[in-house]
Amino acid sequence: MEQTELDQLLSKMTLDEKIDQLLQLTGEFFESEDVVTGPTSYLGLTQETVDLTGSSLNVVGAKKLNHIQKQYLEKNSHKIPLLFMADIINGYKTVFPIPLAQGCTFNPELVEKSAAVAAKESSASGLHVTFSPMVDLVRDPRWGRVMESTGEDTYLNGVLGRAMVRGYQGESLLESGTIASCVKHFAAYGAPAGGRDYNTVDLSERTLREDYLPAYKETIDEGCELVMTAFNTVDGIPATANKTLMNDILRGEWGFDGVLISDYAAIAELMTHGVADDEKEAARLAIEAGVDIDMMTSIYVKNLKRLVEEGVIPEKLINDSTMRVLQLKNKLGLFENPYRDASEELEKELLLCDDHRCLSREIAGESIVLLKNDGVLPLQKQNQKLAFIGPYVDNTSLSGLWSIHSDKETVVTVKQAVLDKIGEADVSFAKGCEILNPGVLIGGFGGEPTVGPNDSVAAQEDLKEALQLAEKADVVVLALGEHVVQSGEGGSRAEITLPEIQLDLLRKIHAVNHKIIVVLFNGRPLDLREVHEKASAVVEAWFPGTEGGHAVADVLFNDVNPSGKLSMSFPYSVGQIPIHYNMFNTGRPFKKGNEGNRFASRYTDIPNEAFYPFGFGLSYTSFEYFGLTLDKASMSSEEVLTASVTVKNTGAYTGKETVQLYIQDLVGSVVRPLKELKGFKKISLEPGEAQTVTFEITEEMLKFYTASKKWESEAGKFKVFIGPDSCIEDFVEFTLVK
Ligand code: BGC
Repeated sequence: MEQTELDQLLSKMTLDEKIDQLLQLTGEFFESEDVVTGPTSYLGLTQETVDLTGSSLNVVGAKKLNHIQKQYLEKNSHKIPLLFMADIINGYKTVFPIPLAQGCTFNPELVEKSAAVAAKESSASGLHVTFSPMVDLVRDPRWGRVMESTGEDTYLNGVLGRAMVRGYQGESLLESGTIASCVKHFAAYGAPAGGRDYNTVDLSERTLREDYLPAYKETIDEGCELVMTAFNTVDGIPATANKTLMNDILRGEWGFDGVLISDYAAIAELMTHGVADDEKEAARLAIEAGVDIDMMTSIYVKNLKRLVEEGVIPEKLINDSTMRVLQLKNKLGLFENPYRDASEELEKELLLCDDHRCLSREIAGESIVLLKNDGVLPLQKQNQKLAFIGPYVDNTSLSGLWSIHSDKETVVTVKQAVLDKIGEADVSFAKGCEILNPGVLIGGFGGEPTVGPNDSVAAQEDLKEALQLAEKADVVVLALGEHVVQSGEGGSRAEITLPEIQLDLLRKIHAVNHKIIVVLFNGRPLDLREVHEKASAVVEAWFPGTEGGHAVADVLFNDVNPSGKLSMSFPYSVGQIPIHYNMFNTGRPFKKGNEGNRFASRYTDIPNEAFYPFGFGLSYTSFEYFGLTLDKASMSSEEVLTASVTVKNTGAYTGKETVQLYIQDLVGSVVRPLKELKGFKKISLEPGEAQTVTFEITEEMLKFYTASKKWESEAGKFKVFIGPDSCIEDFVEFTLVK
C-alpha cells in the first residue's frame, strides 16, 4: 500500500477503531468463546473491542494463526489484518544458546544467522514480530535477566544487537522468512538497584548516555522496527511514561519513527509506581510519552477516547500511533497477504530441520567458555574410564527460560551426545542429586511453583550410585547448574553460588576422586570460587539450546576447540557487584604489592578484579601476542590510525581466538574508563601459524559524553591495548590532535 492509501484508510476509521489498533492481547482472547463472562473477562473488554484489536501476543502455530486471522478479517470492515507478535528470544523451535552465551561467541555472523533461522521458523508458524533483541547493559549478576542480554559491554551489545536485527528483518520485511524486530527494554532495565527485578533504576545522565543508551541506538540505526518500554523508573519517572527518554531522545534525537510498545501491563504499573492516580491518568501519561501499543491492559481502550473527547489530549496523538501500527502492518506486506509465510507445510520443512540444528550446535560450541583447565581436557574418546555425574547429565532443560515455544523432547542431552560420540564402552552416567535443595520454592514461568524434590531415600540412592561410579572412574565430568527458573524474568538471587545440594555433591565426589571436570549450565555469572578450587577444569556451557548436549560433548572431546570469551565478568562474591571491566581509576587506585596501604580503593578481603574477567576464555591451544604497533604516533580528527598485532598459535591444536582492541582516554573533561572495548576480530590459526591483525582507529571511536554534554572527542593521549581479554596490560600510545 502507498502512504496515501494508508492515510485514506485512517481517515475512514472511527476513533474507537483507531484506539483498538493500539491494544495488544494474548492469544486466549482470540480463542475465547465469551470475553464478557468467560476466563478472559478479567480485562473487562467487549467482544467488539477484541474483534478489532490490533495485535496479539505469544500465540503461535500456522494453523492456529491462520484460523485466527481468517475469523478476524471476516469481522473487520476495513480488512486491517491482525499483527502476531511473540517472544522469540534465542530461537523458536530450534533453540540457540541464551543471549548471554551468544555474547560469548564474539561472532556477529553466527548471531545474525541464528536470528535469521529464528525468523524463518517463526514466520512459517505465522509470526510477524519478535520481542528481541534485548540490549539492556548488565553489570549485576544477581539480576535474573542478565541471561537475555549479550552482556556488560556497550560496544559488544551494539554489534550483536545489530546482528540480531539484521538476522530477523533481512533485507526487507516483504521477503518471506523475515519478521520485524523489537528492541527492548527502553531503557536501562539492566540496572535495577540491588539486582532485584523491576526495581528502581537511578543512573546519572552521563552513565545513561555513555553506557546504557548506545546499544539501543545501534539497533535503531540498523532499522529495528519497534521498541519496547521498560518496567523500571529512570530518574524517578517510569520508563513507560518517560517523555525525556521516548519523545526527546528516542524519537527526537535518534529519529525513531517506528512502533513503541509498552512492556506487559506496564501502563497499569504507572499507578503502582505512584505517578498516576487512576487509569485515565496512566493512559494520558503513556500516550503523551509516545507509547503506541498497550500490551495486555484495557487502559488505552477504556480511556483514550474520553481523553480526546474531553480535550485533554489531541486526537492527533491517536492518529499518529495508529498510523505507525498501520505502517508496520504495511511494511510486513500484511494488507496484500495477511497470512504471509504461515503454512503447515513450511513448518514441517523448516522447524528443527538438520541445517537449523547444525547451526544451533555450531553457535552453542562457540559460546562455551573454558574457564579453567589444568590439562585434564580434552578428554580421550577411548582408554579413559569416564563417569558423567550430576543433575544436568540426562536433562533436557537446556534452553533457558525464554524458550517458551520450544519442546523439551527435541533437546539433545549430554548423556545422549556422549553416547553418540564414544559409545557405551568406557562411560557411566548418574544423576547424583537434584538441582535444587529439598523444599526450595521458586515461582515458575507459567505461574506454577517449582519446588526442590524431597525424597530422601531416592536422594541417598542417587548419591551412593554417583560416588561408586566416581571412585572407579579415571575422570569425573560433573554436570551442574542453576535450575532454569533461577534465572530469567523474576529470577533475581541474592546469593549466586550453585545450589548447596550440588556443592555438596561436588565435595563428596572430590573426596573420592580429584580429577573432576565441572560443566556448568546457568543463566548468570556465578560465584565459582569453590568450584574452581576443587575442579581440574571448569567449562561454562550456559543454557546452550536444542543441540546443547552435542555442543558440550564436542568441546569435551575436542571436536570443537573452545573459543568462547566471557561477555560478563564473574565476581569473586556478590560483595563486588556491580563489577565490570571498564571501571574508573578513582583518585586512589590500588596498586598490587601495596597491600599495607589502607587508603586505597580496594577490598581488604578479596581482590578488586573479577574472578574471571570480561573477554576471558581458554582454548586447548595457546596464543602468543607480539609486535603491538601503531602506524603513526598521532592523528587528527580526519585521519585513521592503524593498530596491529601479531597473534601466533603456539600450542598443539587448531584454534579460534577473539583478538580484542581496548582504548583508554588518559585525560578527559570527565573521568574515562580504564579500558573500553572498541573492536574485536575472531581468527582461526593452525598450530604454529601466525597472523597479523589490524584495527582502524577513527575519531568516532574516541567520542564520549563530555563535560559540555556533547558527544565528541577531546584532544590528548590515548592508550591502545590489543589482547586476549580485558586484563591485557601491554599498550602503545597515540595523541589525538585537534
Ligand atoms: C517481559 C518482556 C516480554 C513481554 C512479553 C514481559 O514480562 O518483560 O521482555 O517481551 O513480557 O512476553
